[in-house]
Amino acid sequence: MIRYATPDDIEDMVSIFIDAYNFPGPRESVKSSFEISLEVQPDGCLLAFLKDEPVGMGCIFFYNKQAWIGLMGVKKAYQRRGIGTEVFRRLLEIGRRKVDTIRLDASSQGYGLYKKFKFVDEYRTVRYELMERPIKRVEGVVEVNKIPNWVKEIDKKAFGDDRIRVLEAYMRRGARLLCAENEGFGLVYRGKIGPLVADSPRVAEKILLKAFQLGAREIIIPEVNKDALELIKIFKPSQVTSCMRMRLGSKIEEKVDIYYGILAYAKG
Ligand SMILES: CC(C)(COP(=O)(O)OP(=O)(O)OC[C@H]1O[C@@H](n2cnc3c(N)ncnc32)[C@H](O)[C@@H]1OP(=O)(O)O)[C@@H](O)C(=O)NCCC(=O)NCCS
Repeated sequence: MIRYATPDDIEDMVSIFIDAYNFPGPRESVKSSFEISLEVQPDGCLLAFLKDEPVGMGCIFFYNKQAWIGLMGVKKAYQRRGIGTEVFRRLLEIGRRKVDTIRLDASSQGYGLYKKFKFVDEYRTVRYELMERPIKRVEGVVEVNKIPNWVKEIDKKAFGDDRIRVLEAYMRRGARLLCAENEGFGLVYRGKIGPLVADSPRVAEKILLKAFQLGAREIIIPEVNKDALELIKIFKPSQVTSCMRMRLGSKIEEKVDIYYGILAYAKG
């Protein structure tokens, strides 16, 4: 049985996620990811049951032109029985009713599943841990508590869609917005930075330096942005994991050369 998840299901979803992904780290950080998902897209997550046990899930997020599928997971003991396929099929049906393009970041385990549904490769998105901060002074980066209009515009250019309601949901939960006025911004939340959008490597660098001071250690880079790969070298990066960004439907016009760090695998 597959049904829509509600906020009452969050604990079960967290348990599935931790089991499926072998997630080592705090339960709280997974929980807040699901809370944001269900707050922004209350009808966006599906939960699969076997008898009465919750065993699998997946979520979809709608933007204007595209939808994003993420948080696909099936408990290890129940994998390879078709549950993931069924959840994914349902999410696709829901997505295609509203938008032409559906995208996602595929792990190596999910990749074969999405290929079967005719998703095509776009580029790799690679998660790095930043190990060291070079000693450099930062000027012209300030923290603001309301999203300025120019941030909305530059983010829309980079991502190819309006996702301000998602960024606002992060900020309501304490995410910190760093801005270099009219040139770039970064969102810092739970030890991560993303999105990081900047009109030059110099601007991206100063936002990243400041973000590191605020505790950001992780960034997920679209690998096609060579400036971003070059920039993080000064932070002695260590690769944690990688995904293949994939798409079904027409290509979204985005600007990856100003997109230094994505928001999250599950959300784009
Ligand atoms: C990806 C996942 C959700 C698939 O769920 P599932 O119930 O096992 O999926 P299905 O039984 O319907 O299998 C669908 C396809 O997924 C792929 N797949 C599933 N498990 C896999 C594994 N361990 N390694 C590689 N591919 C795998 C295969 O292509 C499979 O098709 P096949 O059996 O015909 O080869 C599940 O493996 C999972 O939770 N993995 C860990 C978390 C993860 O990486 N999620 C995806 C993030 S993008």
